[in-house]
Amino acid sequence: MGNDYIEAARVFHEITKHSYTSVRSSPHFLDWDNKPLPYKIYPGAASVALPRDLNLSSTPTLAALSSYVPADFSAPIETAALTRILFCADGLTRHKRMGADDYHFRAAASAGALYPIEIYVAASDVEGLETGLYHFSPADLRMAGLRRGDWRGYIAEAAAKRPSILRARAVIAMSAIYWRSEWKYRARAYRYCYWDAGTILANLLAAAAAEEISAEVITAFGDPALEAILGIDGEREGMIALVALGHTDEPAAPSPPCEPLTMETIPLSSNELAYPDLVKMHRESRLVTVEEVAAVSAAKIDSIQHSSSANALHLETITSEESARLGETILRRGSSRAFAQEAITAEELATIMAASSEHPQADFPALTDTYLIVNAADGMHAGAYYYDRNARAFEMLKLGNFRGEAGYLCLEQPLGMDCSALVVYMADLERALNALGNRGYGDAHLEAGILGGRAYLAAYSLGRGATGLTFYDDDTTKFFEPHAAGKSPLLMVALGIPRSRMKS
Ligand SMILES: Cc1cc2nc3c(=O)[nH]c(=O)nc-3n(C[C@H](O)[C@H](O)[C@H](O)COP(=O)(O)O)c2cc1C
Repeated sequence: MGNDYIEAARVFHEITKHSYTSVRSSPHFLDWDNKPLPYKIYPGAASVALPRDLNLSSTPTLAALSSYVPADFSAPIETAALTRILFCADGLTRHKRMGADDYHFRAAASAGALYPIEIYVAASDVEGLETGLYHFSPADLRMAGLRRGDWRGYIAEAAAKRPSILRARAVIAMSAIYWRSEWKYRARAYRYCYWDAGTILANLLAAAAAEEISAEVITAFGDPALEAILGIDGEREGMIALVALGHTDEPAAPSPPCEPLTMETIPLSSNELAYPDLVKMHRESRLVTVEEVAAVSAAKIDSIQHSSSANALHLETITSEESARLGETILRRGSSRAFAQEAITAEELATIMAASSEHPQADFPALTDTYLIVNAADGMHAGAYYYDRNARAFEMLKLGNFRGEAGYLCLEQPLGMDCSALVVYMADLERALNALGNRGYGDAHLEAGILGGRAYLAAYSLGRGATGLTFYDDDTTKFFEPHAAGKSPLLMVALGIPRSRMKS
């Protein structure tokens, strides 16, 4: 792929960087009266109620995070299992009354609690569910019926005949309604949508593994075909990823013709805005022709050169059995609003890092590297580290107390200063873009979101806290140089002891 082709992502990344100066020179005021609704509602659609007696998984969280089901494992999927997966991914888990407003919180973390991601399900072979295309509604745990028929063949055709889709029992399509996140984050929201999709995927993949259902994430597909079937425009609402769920030996039946979908949805705000830089970025990263999909789908990339030195730290980890059950973790998860400036143990940190390191089952290669600022971990020196995802080892980059720097880098939020460790997912974006074109931009952010989402789950399963954080881009790279030269921070996750919930 030529350089012209990846210029869009390069430019977008550059102009959406945060710096000490940019956040002061370009303030943004939130228009609360125009805050978008976090749910997509089809008032005219017939919908099916999903089972409410969920009985969530009792698999230990760490086991669910580290296991996956082979792609050809052919067990049936029941509606109840599909519902548990959808609930663990994006379910409504908590309400909080603040003044006159009722805030809804979901199973996975979402920057600003804006929930830009929508989930659709093309069910081909789900016991108890009519074959068809549905939209998942977390608010009332229902699915709105959008189209009858088996759409697996149609989706597989759009995704370079990906075997996992051709044989899937259900295919999940995830999109983003950008305005929800743009309302607060403006054009930079494009990055947030991929992070948020990533945290949902972290939960979804863990829940699927706990149900013994195979799951593969796919981002190489023709956008126009997916937009047409979902009835979305690719500008206001764009595709993010597919997930092939389960396996059947039954070949896909021919899909019906894809007629235009004309179903009304409730407006999200009185005045929806579009940020042209985001619109351009998504337009340039869409895959349109069969050749483009095939090229991205077959793209090869050299594996990340890990550079652990001989004296890298290999630490003991905690066994899966000692972690909370997945269902409990999902219900307990939240984002820590303040940390206690206390230490977690080095063993806990090593366990969380290991759980957040495995590359997910996906059609794109590993694109991210992990760095950390350790503020306080019993059994480890405070300092800056590179974490080798393959060797599961910590390489010290500089020794010292960097609480002040950690607090500064995450946009001067006390959470970075007070946490036990600040995890920074980074990527050499040139490497990603050269291999995957502009599409690699979303892939790298999605991967960071998945790894960050897993760090959340692992932390909560051990009784510790976590929160996603945003950051000053170039200052973060500088802090980790020379090791991180040429790499861009994609997401931060702070780990620690929540101030109000200290573990005895
Ligand atoms: C990608 C990402 C970035 C986030 N950035 C911040 C942040 O900069 N500051 C903060 O206080 N919380 C941040 N959060 C936490 C969200 O505000 C939180 O997930 C949201 O309010 C929903 O609450 P919950 O996680 O407790 O369910 C972030 C979360 C994600 C997933």
